[in-house]
Amino acid sequence: MQRTAPRAPSDDKRWRIVETRMRRLGYKPDSLIEVLHSAQEAFGYLDDETLKFVGESLGVPPSRAYGVATFYSHFTLKPQGQHTCVVCTGTACYINGAKGILARLAKDLGLKPGATTEDGKLSLLTARCLGACSLAPAVVFDANTHGKATAESVMSRVEKL
Ligand code: FES
Repeated sequence: MQRTAPRAPSDDKRWRIVETRMRRLGYKPDSLIEVLHSAQEAFGYLDDETLKFVGESLGVPPSRAYGVATFYSHFTLKPQGQHTCVVCTGTACYINGAKGILARLAKDLGLKPGATTEDGKLSLLTARCLGACSLAPAVVFDANTHGKATAESVMSRVEKL
């Protein structure tokens, strides 16, 4: 029986990636791990909202969604920093400069993907496709997409945080 999925938590385009994946997998409860992979690739991490939405959509209890997300070291729960910067490293973004953006963040802030600055202000994450390829390279600061990003434009936003 096909389940009626709940509405995505926001109109962020990345939810469409997650919804498409769930639809293709038939909203089966045992597709939980695959769907969480897609969500993490889209957002860079899994937060409460994502786990709740995916759990409800697949008809699995939230405890199971949390259990899976915390059991597998591949999954990253919401990062610790006050702000989050997700650099897309999908093909379109990578060939258009994502590598240079990551190199600049590493050089100027000593920040590697998955890490948080010492002052706890900024966490850096990567995602495989943010669903905004026409804006490549795309970077999401908190919930705001910054398209056609350059190392300079990213650093200038980071300095304003
Ligand atoms: S590859 Fe970066 S948004 Fe699609």
